[in-house]
Amino acid sequence: MPQFSPAAYLPLMTKRETIIIDCDPGIDDAVALLLAFASPEELDIKAVTTVAGNVPLHRTEANARRIRDLAGRGEVPVHAGCPRPLIRALKTADEIHGKTGLDGSDLPDALSALAPGHGADVLRREISAAPGGITLLPVGPLTNVAHALAARPEFAQEVSNIVVMGGSTGPGNVTPHAEFNFHVDPHAAHIVFESGAPIVMHGLNVTHQVRAKPDWIQALRALETTVGHTTAGMLTFYDSDNDPALHDVLTVGYLLWPELFSGEARRVDIVTEGDEAGRSIVRDAGDGVPNATVMLDVDADAFLARLLDRLARYS
Ligand code: RIB
Ligand code: CA
Repeated sequence: MPQFSPAAYLPLMTKRETIIIDCDPGIDDAVALLLAFASPEELDIKAVTTVAGNVPLHRTEANARRIRDLAGRGEVPVHAGCPRPLIRALKTADEIHGKTGLDGSDLPDALSALAPGHGADVLRREISAAPGGITLLPVGPLTNVAHALAARPEFAQEVSNIVVMGGSTGPGNVTPHAEFNFHVDPHAAHIVFESGAPIVMHGLNVTHQVRAKPDWIQALRALETTVGHTTAGMLTFYDSDNDPALHDVLTVGYLLWPELFSGEARRVDIVTEGDEAGRSIVRDAGDGVPNATVMLDVDADAFLARLLDRLARYS
């Protein structure tokens, strides 16, 4: 099954960034993991932690292990985290990602085991043990991250950066006001954005700029690899509306190719109650004290070309 040998790329290593990906696979989470697993010369993946979101936790953690098996990166530990939001009841997105969370793929069940340790504890323990040394990529509801911050407020100063997929400068996707990750756990999003931690926010306004169009999906199939066919199958299923947006993948791409992105320091407030729960109010530049760098634009064509090139590394 191993589809990838990091050793082939080790000589290219320049300054590697140590990261932890906190995710709810989920089809776009899966593509984000595949991109990260295919980039060992830039990214040292300390751990993958999982959270309930797109589908319940027992599926998100198993899906993370299935993708890890596909990528042949069994040395990266996968941990299960919070099975539900801090206060609200869990709301999933089966209609988008399918009941399994990775519909459109015919991946076998996970062969590799789940690592011991609750995902939120792993975030807190690993990041406090390496102050300034680990970048966190949360691409699901922020429940695990908020849990770690509640247990150890110093986490906000110890984490090197939090590169999050969530929110929007404009309308939502699960309600007119709120994006899915922030809507599922708005209290967690509020805790993270009020924590003082360094945050780079990839909201719908920028992730909707990168869409897997039919010709790009066809180029995946043309790779004639298990990863190419699996990714094409998932994205074809995921195409609930006009060409699926590669939301979570942008956070990994931002670490690999920051020159493709532009954003501004802004004040972001999270609505936690009522009809607009989960809404991210992104204030204009200069309005309030910034608590995040909000991504505004990306070179989508260059991003997709480089993503395809990285996915082509899998044999
Ligand atoms: O709104 C998009 C986000 O919600 C992505 O992270 C997707 O995986 C879902 O979790
Ligand atoms: Ca996700």
